[in-house]
Order: sequence, then C-alpha cells, then structure tokens
Amino acid sequence: MRTYTIIEPFRIKSVEPIHWTTRPQREAHLRAACYNLFQLPADGVLIDLLTDSGTGAMSTRQWAAIMEGDESYAGSRSFDHLRDSVRDIFGFRHVIPTHQGRAAERILFSVMCRNGDIVPNNTHFDTTRANIEFVGAQALDLLIPEGREPSLQHPFKGNMDVEALERLLTRAGRERVPLVMLTITNNSGGGQPVSLENVRAVSAVCRRHRIPLYFDACRFAANAYFIKLRESGYAAKTPKEIAREIFSYGDGCTMSAKKDGLANIGGFLCTNNDALAQQEKNLLILTEGYPTYGGLAGRDLEAIAVGLQEALQEDYLCYRIASTAYLGNHIAAAGVPIVQPPGGHAIYIDARAFLPHLPAQQFPGVALACELYLEGGIRSVEIGTLMFGEAAKMDLVRLAIPRRVYTQSHIDYVVEVILEVWRRRQEVRGLQMTYEAPFLRHFTARLAPINESVAQSL
Ligand SMILES: Cc1ncc(COP(=O)(O)O)c(C=O)c1O
Repeated sequence: MRTYTIIEPFRIKSVEPIHWTTRPQREAHLRAACYNLFQLPADGVLIDLLTDSGTGAMSTRQWAAIMEGDESYAGSRSFDHLRDSVRDIFGFRHVIPTHQGRAAERILFSVMCRNGDIVPNNTHFDTTRANIEFVGAQALDLLIPEGREPSLQHPFKGNMDVEALERLLTRAGRERVPLVMLTITNNSGGGQPVSLENVRAVSAVCRRHRIPLYFDACRFAANAYFIKLRESGYAAKTPKEIAREIFSYGDGCTMSAKKDGLANIGGFLCTNNDALAQQEKNLLILTEGYPTYGGLAGRDLEAIAVGLQEALQEDYLCYRIASTAYLGNHIAAAGVPIVQPPGGHAIYIDARAFLPHLPAQQFPGVALACELYLEGGIRSVEIGTLMFGEAAKMDLVRLAIPRRVYTQSHIDYVVEVILEVWRRRQEVRGLQMTYEAPFLRHFTARLAPINESVAQSL
C-alpha cells in the first residue's frame, strides 16, 4: 500500500502573527536580557520552543466547550464533565482539579510524605523534586542506565530500574517510602517513554511491598502511542485502551493539563484512596479553591475535559510524534548530536558534543541557545550547568514543540537555523555568570560573553 506524507491533522481557522526581528534588534534584546532567554520579551521571538507547557492551540470543540463553562462556585456542571472525562481515561475514583501540575504535587506530597521519607521515580521533574524536598523528603531517581546515555538507541529509555527499586523497598520499606512515582513520558530524561512491561513490573514490586504507585501523567497520551508503536502486542490497541491499561496498575496520578490536556492552564490529582482524598480536598480548599473548581474557571475545566480526549486521537498522535522526530532526524542526519531516539514533545541537542571547545563552566547549553536566537530568533532552553550547577551530568538544549502550533515549514526553518550554527560552531563563544539567585537560578541569572583572554585562563 502506498504511504503518504504525514500531515497536520487540522486546518487553520484563526491565526496569530509571529514577530520578525533583525539581527541588530536580536543582539540588543539579548544584551538587555543578560543572555538569559527567559528574560526576553516574547514579541522578540520568532519561533518559541521554550516549552510545550500551556503553549498549545485549542480546537474548535474546546473553544465551543469554553462557552458552555459553568462558573458556579459549588457543584459546577463543568466539573462533572472534567471528572467523567478523567475517569473514562484514567479510571481513578477521586478527581481533584488544581490550577496546574505543581499544585497537585504540593498537595500530594504534603499529605503523603514526612521528613526523612524517600520518594523514588524514574526521573523527578524539577517541580516534583522541589515539592518533595520542601516537605523534608528525599527525591530519588532510579532510571535504567541506558536512559543516561544520550546517543544510545533504546525504545523505552524512560523505564525505571526495577531491581534498584526492589533493593530500595527491601532496605527502606513502607515506613520510609510512602509512594513510588513513574513519570510518563520522562521529561527530564529526553521525553522518553516507559513500556507497559516496565509499568507492570514496577507495579508488582510496589504491590508486594504494599506501597502505592502514582503516575506523573503529564504526557500520558504520547507515552501510550509510543507503546503502540514499539511494544509487542499493542499495535492493534487504541491509545485510549493502552492509557487505561497503564493507569490500571496505579493508585493515583498527578497531571498538568498544560501538556497532554491540550489546555493553556490546569491540572488535577487523582487517587483511589478515600481517606487521602478527603485530606487532599481539605488542603485544596485552603489554597486552591472548592473541590469542584480547584483554582480554575469552569471554562478551563471544559477545555481540559475535551482536550484529554483529543490528545488520544490517533491521527493527532501520529502527527505529533512524527513531526517531533522530523526535526530530530533532519538535524541528526547532518551530524548534530541529539538525545536519541527523538522524544515525544521535544528534541534535546547535546551541547557539550556540539561545542566541545567550551568547558561546562562556560555554559555551552546557554551559549548554543543564545546563538540559535541570534541566528534565527528561535527560543529554546538550556537543561544543564546553569539549571543544575555542578550536579549537571549533561548540557542539553531542549527544543520543545508546542502542540498544534507550528507547521512543517516552521520546523524546516528551525532545521536551517540549527544547521547554519552547526556549520560555524567553532565561532561560538562561552559565557560567564554575573548574577545568580539562591535557588532556581536559571530563571533570573545574568550572564555575559567571555572575552578571549579570560576564556583561556578558565
Ligand atoms: C513531567 C512534569 N511533571 C510536572 C510538571 C509540572 O507541571 P506544571 O508546570 O503545570 O506545574 C511538568 C511541567 O513541565 C512536567 O513536565
């Protein structure tokens, strides 16, 4: 059978202009931003690949649902729509809406964790880690070793190391491990999926030790589609069937609806435990809002209810995974070092391999991200020495693709810009930090280019 080009499964009804700038204008913006792309005005950016969180385009059905939003403080009909949509996919008994994913995390860990506890995960996202550490517990990453090697090909690089989990639970027990988490897909580890075989194995270990398993479900739809494509026995199943099977092995989840909820804001927390749900709702009322809106407007609940179902549509997922891989494969074919295989929501360039003349203390990831902005107005984000300090094992530049926003010609342009910077990579200079905040320094750090004499003495 003839196969045709995979196309965007939508046509465009409403458009938003993007902003062209000249190179001198971009140089001025970058200087004013102290070489920190978080500090740029968004209007100075042409293609914004800073994040896939909350940056997607909503569908006509979502906008129509927004008009149906019930803004009642209590007992809102829109909450019923959200709860039913979540239960249909996730299957958990209690659905607690929150303003975004980190609010669900804060409530979950405040209720379940105590000082000195340990919470394992394949890889904790930075807000997950921060919320665990905030209550005095330890966030532990138990990723399989293959997941830590950027150029290595493996279908499920997000898998948890099940033997390491077994050892931890045998040593620390349920007294010190109140829950186990599994992040699908693994954002901090290159957007890599977790296999159902791994989910089943992790769940079995948790059950044996009578410890609940929670999913960080932000990109559950992409993960389900990777399973369909790569795991034997799942090719004929729908993404929704696969998602339901994943969640059937867990006890609850946290979710940022800004990712595979296809919404611009929102999240939720789910659990099957009645007593925990009561405590979580009590906390929710204290800081987020009444349990039928949880800090969101009724219209947001409607947009999420529809978005969760759309995120599982097969033509959408096929296009989403193919278009992300399109960017990765085109630059990798020209020699650009990336985390392999391409992830579900982003491509990660290995900046240490791209700019081997820059040592980690000269922030190769930030230097490369700045260069992509100067060359073509593209905004990306460093995940490396600026973000994690000396603990950084890699210096990556993440190009996160907003959902349903950019077309193939936008991505072709991104490829051209990256390849131009790749061609003259020897000219890229390192940076030094001139200001850092005491925590989460990457958001507000100020940097400056290093001149030649200083660079040689470092
Ligand atoms: C894996 C993962 N967990 C949690 C979060 C936090 O979600 P939010 O930004 O909605 O608070 C994110 C956001 O990027 C994420 O990628």
